[in-house]
Amino acid sequence: MAEESEAYKQVTALAAGLAHEIKNPLSTISMNLQLLCEELESVQDPAPRETRILKRTKILMEESKRLEDILEKFLHFLRERDPCKKPGNINHLLDGILKFVEPEAKALRIQIRKNLDYSIPFFYFDFEQIRNSVMNLIKNAEAAMPEGGELIVQTTLRGGNVTIDVTDTGVGIPQDNLEKVFEIFYTTWEKGSGLGLPTARKIARLHGGDLSVVSEPGRGSKFSIRIPFETK
Ligand SMILES: Nc1ncnc2c1ncn2[C@@H]1O[C@H](COP(=O)(O)OP(=O)(O)O)[C@@H](O)[C@H]1O
Ligand SMILES: [Mg+2]
Repeated sequence: MAEESEAYKQVTALAAGLAHEIKNPLSTISMNLQLLCEELESVQDPAPRETRILKRTKILMEESKRLEDILEKFLHFLRERDPCKKPGNINHLLDGILKFVEPEAKALRIQIRKNLDYSIPFFYFDFEQIRNSVMNLIKNAEAAMPEGGELIVQTTLRGGNVTIDVTDTGVGIPQDNLEKVFEIFYTTWEKGSGLGLPTARKIARLHGGDLSVVSEPGRGSKFSIRIPFETK
């Protein structure tokens, strides 16, 4: 469906409305389940029945938190609007992100390699949106390397575009699924939502660029965000 069509706009508004309606009651449920868990955990010498109740309440709490997370990401996906572009330093943004994810990567036995072209001048992009996209790609790269591996982040300026490549040495993606990964709600991960890549692609396209992937099962994947290099 063309993103600008009336029908698309209406469905989007409907979906956003529904998600919004569910959000508040769900957050009340989550919060009360959390309080219930805390109360059950504070019981001294719990009887087997109490232990069972706590176990089930915990499952309910975790699942309702997962729903909250999906809803949040879904609303995010719908709400990504025209970028608020300002002149920024893309490598500075990536340095910050990589510094932030380093401890987690280390714990996952993932080695980070930076291949940033620091000569890329300031250009216009939406700092927050691009941060969000890159974070989504890095989270996926981590999930794709359960045994550890290498995460390579590269920037290039070529042919009027800046490209950010996020490469992993993980499980890879079968050729048949290469386009499916950008479909909303498509996920192969147990705790996945299937919203990361659709959101990242939407952001890239709102910038007039795109998000693409090349991958080889068993060897790894490279996701590339292309952003037009605009200096005014
Ligand atoms: N780096 C990657 N390596 C292998 N598969 C990937 C990678 N990134 C994404 N995928 C595949 O694309 C799917 C969709 O990703 P995404 O939209 O971020 O949703 P989620 O992470 O919630 O599953 C994932 O479930 C996985 O199957
Ligand atoms: Mg993801």
